[in-house]
Amino acid sequence: MKLLPIDAVTGGSILGQTIFDANGRILLVKGTVLDEKYLFRLAGLGIDSLYIEDEILSDVTIDEAISEKVKRKTLKSVKDILKTVRAGRQIHQETVFATVTGIINELLANRNVLACVTDICARSDRLFLHAVNVCTLSLIVGIAQKLPYSSLKRLAAGALLHDLGIILLPESLLRKGQNLDPAEQLHYQLHCQLGYDVLRKKYGFDQAVCLIAQQHHELLDGTGYPGRLAENKISPLAKIVAVCNQFNNLVNRQPKMVPSEALEQIMGLAGRHFDLGVVTHFAHSVVIYPNGILVRLNTGEEGYVVGQNAALPHRPVIRIITAAGTKEHDLATELNLTIAAVVR
Ligand SMILES: [Fe+2]
Repeated sequence: MKLLPIDAVTGGSILGQTIFDANGRILLVKGTVLDEKYLFRLAGLGIDSLYIEDEILSDVTIDEAISEKVKRKTLKSVKDILKTVRAGRQIHQETVFATVTGIINELLANRNVLACVTDICARSDRLFLHAVNVCTLSLIVGIAQKLPYSSLKRLAAGALLHDLGIILLPESLLRKGQNLDPAEQLHYQLHCQLGYDVLRKKYGFDQAVCLIAQQHHELLDGTGYPGRLAENKISPLAKIVAVCNQFNNLVNRQPKMVPSEALEQIMGLAGRHFDLGVVTHFAHSVVIYPNGILVRLNTGEEGYVVGQNAALPHRPVIRIITAAGTKEHDLATELNLTIAAVVR
C-alpha cells in the first residue's frame, strides 16, 4: 500500500489500513472502496492522509514499534485517564503503570524496530495519540540509553501524561486549536505547571514523573517555558520527552512536516534547544521515510519506500516502478544512492 494525502485519493481507491478511533471502534475497515462521500466524511473528521492499496505495493506493510493491539489498548487507557482527570476524579498510579508496562515489555522484547508515528486519526483523538506516540518514542530513546527498568517506567508514565495539564485548560481556549494570540499562548503554557501540580499534589506521583510534565517545554539555552531553566536544571527524563514531543508535533500537527524534515530541524537545534545525546539516540530510533511514501533519488528516479533498515533509518529500500517493470534499491548497500526529496 502507499500513503497519500487525502486530497490526492481518488474515488474507487481501496483503503489499505483500518482506521480506528481512540475508543478502539472502527471508523472504516481496510478494503473499503472509497467513494467521494467517504472521503468527504474522513476529511471532515480531520483525517488528512490515507494508506491506499496498490497492486504493485501489495506486499508493503506498516511496521509499528508496538503492536496494533497494545497501541489501541494504550490509546483507550489514556483517553479514560485524561477524561477521569478532567472530571476531577481520582486516578490510580497502578492504572498508569499497568498501561505503560505493555509498551515497555513489547519494546524490550522487540528492540530492532524503528518507531513510525505518522498518524491516521481523527482530529478529536490527536491529543490521546500524541500521548501514546511520545511515550513510545521516549521509551525507545530510554532503552537505547540503557536506562534501568525503574527509570523506564517513570519515563513512560511521565511521557504518557506530559500534556495532562492541557485538558484542565478552559474549553474556550482548547477550541481555538493552534490559532492563539500572545495572551492565549501564555495561558496555554500554564499546562506544564498545571500538569505537575495535579500529578504531584493530587495523585502523589514520584517527582521524576511530575518533572516531565513540568519541564517538557524547557530548552537547554534557557529560552523554554515555564521556568526558562538552564540545561543543568532540566531533568534528564524531561530532556528525552522534549525531543519526542517536538518531533511528534512537527510530524502530526498542521502544517505537517514529513519526518525527515522534522528530524533535520531537531538535529539543527541539538546542543542549543535539545540534548545532543538524546537527539543522537532519537535519530537512530525513528522512521524517517515511512513505508508507502514516494521519494526522489539523487539519480532523479522516483520510487516508493517499501522497507526499513533498522540500523540505518535514513537509508530504506526503494521500489522503482517503470513501464518495463519494477526494480528495488536497498540504500543500505547501494551507497551511491541517496534520497533527494519526498514527493508530495
Ligand atoms: Fe506540552
